[in-house]
Amino acid sequence: MQMQDLLLRNVALPDGRAGVDVLVREGRIAAVGPALPAPQGIPALDGGGWLLSPPFVDAHFHMDSTLSHGQPRVNESGTLLEGISLWGELKPLLTQEALVERALRYCDWAVARGLLAIRSHVDVCDPRLLAVEALLHVKRQVAPYLDLQLVAFPQDGVLRCPGALENLKRALDLGVDVVGGIPHFERTMADGAESVRLLCELAAERGLRVDMHCDESDDPLSRHVETLAQQTHRLGLHGRVTGSHLTSMHSMDNYYVSKLLPLMAEAQLHAVANPLINIMLQGRHDTYPKRRGMTRVPELLAAGVNVGFGHDCVMDPWYPLGSADMLEVAAMGLHVAQLGSVAGQRACFDAVTVNNARVLGLEGYGLEPGCRGDFVLLQARSPQEAIRLRAPRLLVVRGGRVLARAPVQAVALELPGRPARVDFTLAPPARDEPGVAPPGGPEAGP
Ligand code: FE2
Repeated sequence: MQMQDLLLRNVALPDGRAGVDVLVREGRIAAVGPALPAPQGIPALDGGGWLLSPPFVDAHFHMDSTLSHGQPRVNESGTLLEGISLWGELKPLLTQEALVERALRYCDWAVARGLLAIRSHVDVCDPRLLAVEALLHVKRQVAPYLDLQLVAFPQDGVLRCPGALENLKRALDLGVDVVGGIPHFERTMADGAESVRLLCELAAERGLRVDMHCDESDDPLSRHVETLAQQTHRLGLHGRVTGSHLTSMHSMDNYYVSKLLPLMAEAQLHAVANPLINIMLQGRHDTYPKRRGMTRVPELLAAGVNVGFGHDCVMDPWYPLGSADMLEVAAMGLHVAQLGSVAGQRACFDAVTVNNARVLGLEGYGLEPGCRGDFVLLQARSPQEAIRLRAPRLLVVRGGRVLARAPVQAVALELPGRPARVDFTLAPPARDEPGVAPPGGPEAGP
């Protein structure tokens, strides 16, 4: 895609600055500041004072199964294990054309939502590598407008599933970016630990990153993340390894966690929680009280671990809902982790933007001069308001080129006994906002 020039006038930034212009030259941000001079011949757009954010990033997704809900049947129990067996029923029926079509459709949804980078796991247990080839095709096709990073994911266990290790290596040879794993699904804890060792060694040999589904259970003794941290440390993979899900940490003994958190921080492990899916799937063996089953997000953040949030699934054997909206993911993460403070809400916004960009190792991510000219204009005034309102995406830009735009959403209210008005944002009343009475003013009353 040709890199372009663009001047975006009058936006707010996540750091609180308002009335800022952003200039993009040849696809990169050239300047950020108030009232920038307009170079000749560069198209200018009015940002209307709305919030400009770097694009949303999804650090954990399954694009090979997305939009397959109901094929060949729905998940009646709603559990992780029925989802895995349902996916096993669907695999022999998959065609490359259907995989590509569903993935491309999801990427369209993503762009419309300002989501321009996705790390997707792709199942490598099918010896045909049908999904791998389909998603590599999709990766090339969407590259001009979306970064699709692929993880070689042995869904049925790299040791448990015959041929899975060879298939995984073939997937890497074909161009899959990251080494995946699922130690808690191996036959024994010992096999799980062995899978972590051999997969981390494979990644070290090939100079690749690692992202493992790790301890996605309610078992307080599922402790593969400890092994993952240890192997990361031993092999010098610091900052290149991600533990995804980590739901068993929810149920672990507090004393053990007090030792585990510093080990994870020491290894510079990234942690990715998937709040929508894990609030749906975990705690299924409980009666009441039912565990929430999301990993310990506030404690990980406090320990200095980079924590991202993933969408994980959209309309597939594990989850019947979703629409590529990372603000919905942030909102669920915020609630489950009880991160309602101003700083906590901001951490949840970071978890679907800058923190996920760190997980993927994205180059040139951000809104500073020199970064890629990629951003999304949100109909909100702050990151907190963006989450609260699941803010509409007004403008999605990649390399200075507009990929998607939508009009400002407004509702005309015509209420009996109240002045007619247009409500743009469901924002709280402000004294200087026309048409809104100050609290206690003439419009106040029962
Ligand atoms: Fe997953």
